[in-house]
Amino acid sequence: VASREVLVIGIGAGDPSYVTVQAVEALNRADVFVVLDKGEDKDDLVALRREILDRFVEGDEGTAYRVVERADPERRLGDATSASYAADVQSWHDQRIDLYQSLLRDEVADGEVAAFLAWGDPSLYDSTTRVLDQVAELGTLDLAIEVIPGISSLHALTARFAIPLNQIGGAITITTGRQLVAMEPAAIDNVVVLLDGRCSFAQVDPAGLTIWWGAYLGTPDEILVTGPLAEVAGHIQQVRAEARARKGWMFDTYLLRRQP
Ligand SMILES: C[S@@+](CC[C@H](N)C(=O)[O-])C[C@H]1O[C@@H](n2cnc3c(N)ncnc32)[C@H](O)[C@@H]1O
Repeated sequence: VASREVLVIGIGAGDPSYVTVQAVEALNRADVFVVLDKGEDKDDLVALRREILDRFVEGDEGTAYRVVERADPERRLGDATSASYAADVQSWHDQRIDLYQSLLRDEVADGEVAAFLAWGDPSLYDSTTRVLDQVAELGTLDLAIEVIPGISSLHALTARFAIPLNQIGGAITITTGRQLVAMEPAAIDNVVVLLDGRCSFAQVDPAGLTIWWGAYLGTPDEILVTGPLAEVAGHIQQVRAEARARKGWMFDTYLLRRQP
C-alpha cells in the first residue's frame, strides 16, 4: 500500500494576512496543492487561494510545486424528506471519496507531500478531514494526515466587531440557517450562524436580540452591520441582496445574542 503525507491547511477566512506562520511553513512543505473548485460564481475564492500560494510559497509553480485543480462534486440535494435524499447524500459522499482517492493516488508521487487548502479553519463546516478519513478507511492508501488550524469566519467576525464570542460563563451555539429557524425562541441566546442562504435571522422573533452581521469578512468587500435585530433585519436583507447581485456570490456569518 502506497503511503501519502497529507496536510490540511487552514488558510483563514478571507484576508491573506490571516495565514499563520505555521500555515506558511506547511505551505512550503507541500509538493502538490489540491484546489477544489466549488463551482458557482466563487472564482474569487479560487483566486484568493492562488494569491496565497504566490505570496507565501517560495519558488514558482511548476518547479517548486504543482497545483491540481478539480471541480468539487456539487451537493445537489432535494428536500430532506424526499425518498431519494439519503441515496443522494450517499452518492455525493462517494463521489468525493473517489475524487480525493484518485487525486492522492495519481497526482502525488511516493515521498511527496500533498496539501488541501481549507477555507478558514478546517474543523468548522468543512468536510476535507472527514472525506480523507473515509479515503483512509478504503485501505488503498496509507495516509498520514496533519491539520494546521486557521482563522475562521466566526473569529474574523468577533474580531471585526471587537466583541467576545461568549457571554460571561455562557454557552455558545454554532449552527446553520436551516437549524436556526427550527430552534426554540428561548434557546436563541448566543448563537453564531454560518451557511445561511436565506436570511434566517429575519424569520426568528427579534424581541430582545442583537445581531452582529458580517459579509465577505477580511476582504476588500467586507460589510459589517450591527444593531437590535428588530431594527436592522430589513436593512441587512437589502444590503445582502444588493451585494449578492453585484458579486454573484455571498458569504456571511452572524452572531445573535439576547441582551440581559
Ligand atoms: C462551508 S462553510 C466554511 C467555514 C470555514 N471553514 C470557516 O472557518 O469559516 C462556509 C460558510 O462560512 C462562512 N464564511 C466563510 N468565510 C466567510 C467570510 N469571509 N465572511 C463571512 N462569512 C464567511 C459563511 O457563513 C459561509 O456560508
